[in-house]
Amino acid sequence: MIVGVPKETFPGERRIALNPPGVGTLKKEGLEVIIEKGAGEGASLADSVYVERGARIVQDRNAVFSEADVILQVRGPGANPIEGAKDLSLLKEKHALIAFLDPLAATDMMQALAKTGATSFSMELMPRTTRAQSMDALSSMATVAGYMAVLLGATHLPKFFPMFMTAAGTISAARVLVIGAGVAGLQAISTARRLGAVVEAYDVRPAVKEQILSLGARFVELPIETKDAEDAGGYAKEMTEETKRKQQELMAEHVRDADVVITTAAVPGKRAPMLIPESVVSGMRAGSVIVDIAAEKGGNCELTVAGETVVRHGVTIIGAANLATMLPTHASQMYSKNVLTFLCHLVKDGSLPLNLEDEITKGTLVTRGGKVVHPAVLAAIG
Ligand code: NAI
Repeated sequence: MIVGVPKETFPGERRIALNPPGVGTLKKEGLEVIIEKGAGEGASLADSVYVERGARIVQDRNAVFSEADVILQVRGPGANPIEGAKDLSLLKEKHALIAFLDPLAATDMMQALAKTGATSFSMELMPRTTRAQSMDALSSMATVAGYMAVLLGATHLPKFFPMFMTAAGTISAARVLVIGAGVAGLQAISTARRLGAVVEAYDVRPAVKEQILSLGARFVELPIETKDAEDAGGYAKEMTEETKRKQQELMAEHVRDADVVITTAAVPGKRAPMLIPESVVSGMRAGSVIVDIAAEKGGNCELTVAGETVVRHGVTIIGAANLATMLPTHASQMYSKNVLTFLCHLVKDGSLPLNLEDEITKGTLVTRGGKVVHPAVLAAIG
């Protein structure tokens, strides 16, 4: 079986789905690896490095799809709304595609993908279970995003992060507020702490308090009812309008106090909760920064514009999108590890016999035999 890695085509995307050591892993499984010429360039990975590990470089995209049985991508059709549709004519029944597909939002594309006959797996649908932890690419990318969000905040803030005692006087440390302490939020907390900021963080799930404290941040306690904040899977549930309003009011003082606010609050399958209204932004100090990494899901700040940096009431608001591509070498390394672990989970004796009793296989399988087969995607299609 041949595994093919085409070059990513989404504008500005610099990640690649397989890093060079991954070639060796696949060869041990008895698989051949082909890489489209220049596919690793964005992540500073030259073709020659892949060749040294035993991959073969092919000259163009058509050759990757015509030779390969398994296609590994970062942004497959659906997750690549600009160029992804072009791959539909290259995908055939023989292919197994593993990629981010954005299957619950890009439902038309999932139907078009099904029509190609290809078997496709969505990395977004990986169950967040202990067994699947090493295949959880969303968490990997959220780790990168949390880190990058702090660096963006630090470079836009007209102040130092750490405290300095210098001959020119004492500089006080920046105050950072992190809202939402999931994967991205916890990474943001530890990165901001490493840069020397004074950090406080808030999450609706009281269970994360200990994790926040263990990273050296202060936990913001708000007097709102949180006992039903979490579902059975440990995810936040959507709050009532009344609770949302109360949360906005109570949090306002902490937001106004902060130099940098990093917002990461998300509820699975829902629009991101709006936590910072314009009235609160207008009360922040001029020069403060909001980095809203939930921008693509509607944003946690009322003034966020996804993919853009705007200045409103003297506050810089960064509608951070595709942060993972800003750190392409390590983001690719992490994604590659997740994808390979998943592919090796599927492969038996050099072929792909699908065990549909397996929760990981079943949970990620979107299209097969010309149809959309995933229940959640079918429900999203209606
Ligand atoms: P996660 O599910 O691990 O964390 C989200 C956290 O938000 C949870 O801890 C949840 O309890 C909390 N939350 C929900 N409602 C809240 C509220 N009203 N107030 C305070 N906290 C609340 O998600 P993860 O992986 O950390 O991702 C966070 C967000 O970042 C998602 O929207 C995700 O799509 C986005 N993201 C953006 C990237 C980018 O490049 N901009 C890259 C990766 C993720």
